[in-house]
Amino acid sequence: MDLTASQQRMLAGRHGEVPQRMLRLLVHLGRLYGASRMIPVSSVQVSGVSYKSIADPGLHFLEDLSARGARVVVPAYSNPAGMDVTAWRELGFPEAFAVRQLRILRALEALGVNLSLTCTPYLAGLVPGRGDHIAWSESSAVCFANSVLGARTNREGGPSALAAAICGVTPEYGLHTERGRYPETVVEVQCELGDATDFGTLGYAVGRASKGHVLYFRGISHAGQDELKMLGAALAASGAVSLFHVEGVTPEAALVPVPRTAAMTITQRALQDTKALLNARAGRVEAVILGCPHASLEEVERAVLCVRGRRLRRLLWISTSRAVRSLAEARGLVREIEAAGGRVLADTCAVVAPIEEMGFRAVGVNSAKCAHYLPGFCRQQVVYEGMESLIEDSLQ
Ligand code: F3S
Repeated sequence: MDLTASQQRMLAGRHGEVPQRMLRLLVHLGRLYGASRMIPVSSVQVSGVSYKSIADPGLHFLEDLSARGARVVVPAYSNPAGMDVTAWRELGFPEAFAVRQLRILRALEALGVNLSLTCTPYLAGLVPGRGDHIAWSESSAVCFANSVLGARTNREGGPSALAAAICGVTPEYGLHTERGRYPETVVEVQCELGDATDFGTLGYAVGRASKGHVLYFRGISHAGQDELKMLGAALAASGAVSLFHVEGVTPEAALVPVPRTAAMTITQRALQDTKALLNARAGRVEAVILGCPHASLEEVERAVLCVRGRRLRRLLWISTSRAVRSLAEARGLVREIEAAGGRVLADTCAVVAPIEEMGFRAVGVNSAKCAHYLPGFCRQQVVYEGMESLIEDSLQ
């Protein structure tokens, strides 16, 4: 691999032991994927923040890095933690979990990582431009950054993202290259898509059959930010997809060569079957958890319209970033959700919070990604439905 003089010095240990180790990791990764050089990144998004995901080995790894004086050299934002950092006690998060989670956050802060604690950094002030090279790691954020913003990132693991943040570079391969962004599979959409949950169902159906391909969708006439966010999260969850193009909608769709024939057609029947699959372990809903990926301000507003002047008869949590929660608070939206008996949580989400330890058994969700992970990772029975229908069904 061609390394610049400064990168060679880093690899020789002249910038310290941690940058040396981290660059070694990136060089190894680059060689595996055939990269011929390193490219600078303008931002990093680091996953592996919840104590539930990384446990003691991850905690000790981060504490060790920070004790050795490592620092990030580019803006680096963090993925959700396992709890709301300010309201964990009143929300009933276990003390032992919280103590370890706070140690992880202290270590990340010492490394210089911004404690944004969100999988939607693009709604919290980190918006890369089209063509920008970045190193992000949370799968839905990666899909959104590539597809909707036109930035360029592979799906990094937690350690490789942190390495990119400490070295300021990433190996050039895959979705960083022009060719790597060409669509491999065309999907013909022949079904009605209503709300964002339908886009999640579509993404889940397509992802299951496309296994990491770059996709090109035809037949989606309209899609806003929330719909594309849900589509990408589901594609990434069921099919490890990191980039999709939507004809007439996403920024690179008109610039890439498109295969002539559609490899996949999604009909109304396929959408119904996928929804039934995600509801296969449905039970009686005991709580509703929304905000996967983290809710936008518009989604919080939609929830408020459902509960305004009413009372909930079961628990409602809406997960979002602290940045969006602050905006929602300033507009009085948090107060309205709380007046109905719900909560707007910052910093965490249903999947990375220890909800199974907190007594949750059966939850209603509007996200295909959440419906995918909750049964296995969090031992939950799941009802998968649209936001309005879940809330309506939870009112007194
Ligand atoms: Fe984000 Fe958690 Fe869903 S990290 S995409 S809200 S599983």
